[in-house]
Amino acid sequence: HQLHAAELERTFIAIKPDGVQRGLIAEIISRFERKGFKLVAIKIVLPSKEFAEKHYHDLKERPFFNGLCDFLSSGPVVAMVWEGEGVIKYGRKLIGATDPQKSEPGTIRGDLAVVVGRNIIHGSDGPETAKDEIALWFTSSELVSYTSNAELWIY
Ligand code: PPS
Repeated sequence: HQLHAAELERTFIAIKPDGVQRGLIAEIISRFERKGFKLVAIKIVLPSKEFAEKHYHDLKERPFFNGLCDFLSSGPVVAMVWEGEGVIKYGRKLIGATDPQKSEPGTIRGDLAVVVGRNIIHGSDGPETAKDEIALWFTSSELVSYTSNAELWIY
């Protein structure tokens, strides 16, 4: 049967400044694309420190909060929304464990990162966070619903 695009799950994914500087944009996008998820929003932005603090507001009691916000606002970030069945949870699986020393080979962090403070990518950790983060980074007119041919037989 054919699912309607509007019913599909969405998650917020960001390539952090280290991922952008290291030239890993295409590599990262490719992994989500080849899996079969659909890109419905993308832009490159330079977040302010205040914006980074909003993004990470849940972590403000953590000792690394300030450094993490400095890092996110230290350079261009590629902000994206990906859509597809199970994309929130499976996106996290593609990304790998928070600490690249613990992420498995085959995951983005396992293959491409070394330390937790420079772990190249962020992904929403659940449906509520996904909703909030998409709303923080994108306006609704920046989210594009479309049917791809592949959707007829993959999704
Ligand atoms: S935690 O501790 O369970 O809340 O960690 P987690 O939810 O996996 O991570 C939340 C984000 O904080 C980042 N993080 C860190 N940054 C710098 N230093 C240290 N020690 C550290 N620990 C966690 C982690 O990368 C998560 O950021 P995002 O951008 O969501 O990946």
